[in-house]
Amino acid sequence: MQEDRLDTVRGWVQEARHIAVLTGAGVSAESGVPTFRDAQTGYWAQFRAEDMATEEGFRAHPERVWNWYQHRRQLMEGVAPNAGHLALAAFQAAHPGRLTLITQNVDGLHQRAGSTGVLCVHGDLFANRWLDTPRNCCHIDDAVAGSPPHCDRCGNRLRPGVVWFGEMLPLAVFEAAERAAQDCELMLVAGTAGAVYPAAGLARQARAAGARVVVVNPAPSELDDAADAVLRGTSATLLPQLLQA
Ligand code: APR
Repeated sequence: MQEDRLDTVRGWVQEARHIAVLTGAGVSAESGVPTFRDAQTGYWAQFRAEDMATEEGFRAHPERVWNWYQHRRQLMEGVAPNAGHLALAAFQAAHPGRLTLITQNVDGLHQRAGSTGVLCVHGDLFANRWLDTPRNCCHIDDAVAGSPPHCDRCGNRLRPGVVWFGEMLPLAVFEAAERAAQDCELMLVAGTAGAVYPAAGLARQARAAGARVVVVNPAPSELDDAADAVLRGTSATLLPQLLQA
């Protein structure tokens, strides 16, 4: 019975001195942000990840890829954090230091909801950086408009500050996420298919280090087998119920 499992997990939340939460695109779905792997509605049902989320794809078609990220940035202007984001932020405010939030999302909605210390392991949709190692002539502020903006002296191009397939995760951020996974007593895994590593491995690390792992997802995920409990439902519905003060 889901109701019994919900009560059990609520008890785990109350007991745990340290909780780590790993979120994915599903947590923003109820704000109106598309996920990646959901059939029909996910971005990867429409585009090939190789084209839109790799350095090779960007070098092959910089304009197309840049414009897609610009479109995603614009989409974020019209959306707001949902009850799931807000429940996480409220818990952090009510229990300082007890909840570490690790997110694969680049959309900034956790931060806009008021969460602090968010470990963004896949970068930031709104940041830009140079595609090639900046030469002395390249300063972000001097980039000339274009699609993508570029350095008019050497031709270097700006690219979005997200982690693409095949790229390293930001080291210090990922190390902090690993520490949280290893030190927590409970890990909540919400809104992720659990298909992308190393981020998905954080749940397995937490489990191996002795934490309880709970998956919150309306559909099966690749981390269900690592979970002590699987709660079927959306994050905007379930996170407020689990984390109520
Ligand atoms: N609440 C909770 N979960 C939901 C909801 C919802 N309202 N709606 C969908 N989901 C679930 C789906 O069932 C799916 O398991 O969210 C998950 C979304 O999975 P993905 O689209 O694969 O997103 P994510 O796991 O975050 O992807 C990881 O892949 O393409 C890359 O870099 C991108 O960070 C992303 C990474």
